[in-house]
Amino acid sequence: MTRLFALNTLLAAAAAAALLAAAPASAADQFGADRHVARGVACTACHGPDMKNPVYPDENTCLQCHKKADVAAKTKKLNPNPHEAPHNGDCTLCHLQHEPTENYCAQCHKFDFGKIP
Ligand code: HEC
Ligand code: HEC
Ligand code: HEC
Ligand code: HEC
Repeated sequence: MTRLFALNTLLAAAAAAALLAAAPASAADQFGADRHVARGVACTACHGPDMKNPVYPDENTCLQCHKKADVAAKTKKLNPNPHEAPHNGDCTLCHLQHEPTENYCAQCHKFDFGKIP
């Protein structure tokens, strides 16, 4: 029993290692967090100094470096402007950082903002 368990654990570890090794080289810039890290923004810039207890980022985290007025100016051609939302405008609702970005507004509206970085 114990032996079988140990073998399974080993197999699982080997499978996980194989998966990691198989990850494409481009995975490094797949998501927002990876692109931030590649530009020198540390994990701790978004999660606070204690990475064993990471702070869950919110809009104020992003606003330390991105001024709302600046991003709104960059997307003023879009209607409605995703950066001047009358509601549900929290950055991380659309700009998820460790998974694909999402048009959060589309849960209720039919706005097409194009590609969300
Ligand atoms: C410590 C500073 C810092 C923090 C905090 C930060 N960013 Fe950035 N962000 C940058 C820099 C630097 C760039 C690259 C230059 C630029 O586009 O302004 C960038 C680029 C981006 C881009 C451009 C698209 C891309 O990935 O290439 C988006 C979108 C973005 N950040 C969203 C966010 C969101 C959402 C948050 C909060 C969860 C956040 N940022 C927090 C510094 C920061
Ligand atoms: C409704 C979804 C949505 C929300 C919420 C949102 N964004 Fe965006 N953001 C977008 C879209 C769409 C673009 C790309 C627009 C384009 O390039 O035409 C973008 C682009 C950006 C960029 C890149 C601008 C550039 O071209 O250099 C930054 C930085 C950014 N957003 C930051 C933020 C921050 C900070 C917040 C919160 C205050 C936020 N966003 C909230 C949808 C959103
Ligand atoms: C630009 C800001 C940013 C950077 C840099 C960043 N993260 Fe995140 N992280 C987020 C956001 C936003 C979330 C919330 C979920 C999401 O957006 O995918 C998150 C979620 C997490 C979570 C889940 C936390 C929870 O309570 O569920 C962990 C763990 C995490 N990040 C680890 C890291 C590590 C490790 C790094 C550095 C390699 C990193 N993050 C870099 C913004 C960032
Ligand atoms: C959970 C559903 C829901 C989500 C998500 C949502 N909305 Fe709305 N929104 C509504 C409803 C319902 C109305 C109608 C309110 C009314 O007509 O008085 C509305 C109205 C609006 C209006 C027109 C009225 C006004 O207040 O100016 C705009 C613009 C708008 N939403 C933008 C957005 C944007 C941008 C997003 C994403 C950041 C978003 N909404 C996300 C439900 C939602």
